[in-house]
Amino acid sequence: MLNILHHYIGTKILNRIEPEISHAIALCYLRLLNQFVKKRKIGNPMLKTKICGMEVPSPIGLAAGFDKNAEVFNATLSLGFGFVEVGTITPDPQFGNPKPRLFRLPEEKALINRMGFNNKGMLHVSKIAEKPKLGIVGVNIGANAKSINKILDYTNVFEFIAHLFDYVTINVSSPNTKNLRDLQKPETLEQILQDVNTINVSLKRKVPIFIKIAPDLNDSIVTEILSVCEENYVSGLIATNTTINPKNLKNPNSFEGGLSGKPLFNQSNKILRLLAKRKNASTVLIGVGGIFSASDIYEKIMLGASAVQIYTGFVYNGPMHIKRMEMELKNLLLSDGYNSIDGAVGALIR
Ligand SMILES: Cc1cc2nc3c(=O)[nH]c(=O)nc-3n(C[C@H](O)[C@H](O)[C@H](O)COP(=O)(O)O)c2cc1C
Repeated sequence: MLNILHHYIGTKILNRIEPEISHAIALCYLRLLNQFVKKRKIGNPMLKTKICGMEVPSPIGLAAGFDKNAEVFNATLSLGFGFVEVGTITPDPQFGNPKPRLFRLPEEKALINRMGFNNKGMLHVSKIAEKPKLGIVGVNIGANAKSINKILDYTNVFEFIAHLFDYVTINVSSPNTKNLRDLQKPETLEQILQDVNTINVSLKRKVPIFIKIAPDLNDSIVTEILSVCEENYVSGLIATNTTINPKNLKNPNSFEGGLSGKPLFNQSNKILRLLAKRKNASTVLIGVGGIFSASDIYEKIMLGASAVQIYTGFVYNGPMHIKRMEMELKNLLLSDGYNSIDGAVGALIR
C-alpha cells in the first residue's frame, strides 16, 4: 500500500510540478519517511552481490545528486535501492548556479541540469551521517566553485567525512563547476589520488575509492585515466556523469549544463565497454547513464559493470519501478543460464 502511495506521488504528481520544486517536495516526503524506516526489505537472493567487498542486496544503486546532503539515505534504501551514493559534498556550503537550473525533456526521457553542486557543505553532512545506516552508503565529493585550490578541496572533504561512509567517489566530471573536468587530466588526477591515499591509509578502516568520469572523453584519455587510477590504488570507476553533447538529442538543441537519461545510454556504454576491455581484473566498474529498464541494466552488466546507478529513470518512472526492474533482471539472468550477477559481468566483452 505504502509502495503504491510512493509511486503515485512520484509519477503522477511530482512530474507535473516545476522540476526543482518537485525535487524539494520529494525530499520533504523522504525526510519524513527517513524518520520512521527501521529496516529494508530483503531483495531477491539471486541479485545479492559484492562491490569491492561491500555486500549489497541488489546491484541497482541510486546515483549521486539526488540526495545531495545525505538527508534521506535510509528512506531511499527502503525504496529498494541496493546501495545509495550521496553528494556531491564540497568543503563549504554553496547555493549552486542561479535558478532555473533543472529542466525536463519528457519526449527524450532526459533531464538537463546545471545545479552546480548546491549542497550544505561537509560540516552539515558530518553531523547527520553518523546516523546508523540500513545499507551501503557512499559519498561523492567535489570542490567549491570559488575555491582557488580545487585539489585541496578533495583532500579536505575526504579527511573530514570519509570515515562516515562505506566508500568515497571522487567527482572530477561534473560539467557545472567551471574547469572541474580539467581535474581528469592524468597529472592532476594523480595528485588528488596521492593526497587522498595518504589520508586513507591512516584511517582505522580504509575506504574503497571510486573515480567518476565524464562521457565526453576520447579513448586515449579514458585509457590514461584508467592507468592513473590503477597505479594509485583506486578500487573502481563510475562511468559516467552527464554529457555536454547536444548531438545526443533527437532534436539537437544547444543547452547549458549536463544531459542525462536516455540520450546518454549509448555514450556512457561506450566508455564502460572501453574501460572493461582495458582494466585490470581487480578494478570494479559501476555503470551509470540512461537506465530505464532491466534490459538496460543487464546490458551494462554484460558490458562489464558489477553494479549500476540510476537518477533520471528514477525521476520519470518512480520508486515502484526499482522493484519491478529487480524482478525482470532476475528473469533475464535466468533466461541466459546465470544464477548470479557475477557470472554475467562482462559477458559481452569476453
Ligand atoms: C539533477 C541532477 C543532479 C546531479 N548531481 C550530481 C552530483 O551532484 N554529483 C554527481 O557526481 N553526479 C550528479 N548527477 C549525475 C548523475 O549522478 C548521473 O551520473 C547522470 O545523471 C547519469 O545517470 P542517469 O542517466 O541515470 O540520470 C546529477 C544528475 C542530475 C540529473
